[in-house]
Amino acid sequence: MTYEDGIKVIVADATHEKYVDLILDTIREAAKKRGTGIAERTHEYVATKMKEGKAVLALDPSKQTELGDAFVGFSYIETWGNKSYVTTSGLIVHPDYQGRNIAKRIKDHTFTLARVRWPHAKIFSLTSGDAVMKMNTALGYVPVSFNQLTDDDAFWRGCRGCINHPILEMKNRKFCICTGMLYDPAQHKGEPTPVEIFQEIMREMAKRESPLPTSPKGEEFSTSPSLPTSPKGEE
Ligand SMILES: CC(C)(COP(=O)(O)OP(=O)(O)OC[C@H]1O[C@@H](n2cnc3c(N)ncnc32)[C@H](O)[C@@H]1OP(=O)(O)O)[C@@H](O)C(=O)NCCC(=O)NCCS
Repeated sequence: MTYEDGIKVIVADATHEKYVDLILDTIREAAKKRGTGIAERTHEYVATKMKEGKAVLALDPSKQTELGDAFVGFSYIETWGNKSYVTTSGLIVHPDYQGRNIAKRIKDHTFTLARVRWPHAKIFSLTSGDAVMKMNTALGYVPVSFNQLTDDDAFWRGCRGCINHPILEMKNRKFCICTGMLYDPAQHKGEPTPVEIFQEIMREMAKRESPLPTSPKGEEFSTSPSLPTSPKGEE
């Protein structure tokens, strides 16, 4: 989707692998600045997310770089616990583009992508960032204790890179510095997602011949959006 200011937010594909190293460097720099640890991701991991249609990229076509359109922002989705949980992860907006509503647009895309692909999965977030908490709240996430999040060890291993990991271990994964936030689709039946984003993602999935989600009761997702409606994906 191209927004009024010319910024494009898209579901990434294999052709966007050229942006991976810049994305990882930008995430690393931001973590250094915030004084937090990060879940280290490899080039291959992020490139695979792009190839699988599980990553969202924001680009600025009005500014050309050696990679093509200038890199603006990024995030991706991951599933846990046999796809019963989804997280949107690795949210980053390049410092040159912060404060312009870009994170919110990316988040609307990753959230919608998660809802389209796994309509019955709970979406959760573990964050210490005010911006993310604000955006999560606007989408319907609520703060929860860690025992309501996935017990998938693979997810919690991602916390090992964080400087606060010793606290998490000491508390037996029950508490830490981050706030756990959860969106339970069962509590939001019939609520709309940003319509244009929904439709674009459905078109994109069909183009890539990704199997569209099926739901045992033939619920909303295979044909029409039924999730926050607003023309520009804003709340
Ligand atoms: C956090 C980050 C993604 C925000 O990106 P952004 O494009 O500047 O954010 P947006 O302009 O879309 O703002 C989204 C919302 O968050 C709020 N927000 C943004 N930065 C904030 C901050 N530092 N503190 C508090 N709120 C903030 C905005 O006011 C807005 O809320 P509103 O809609 O109620 O006005 C960006 O600053 C970044 O990449 N930081 C480094 C990495 C990081 O911290 N990632 C998040 C990990 S938890």
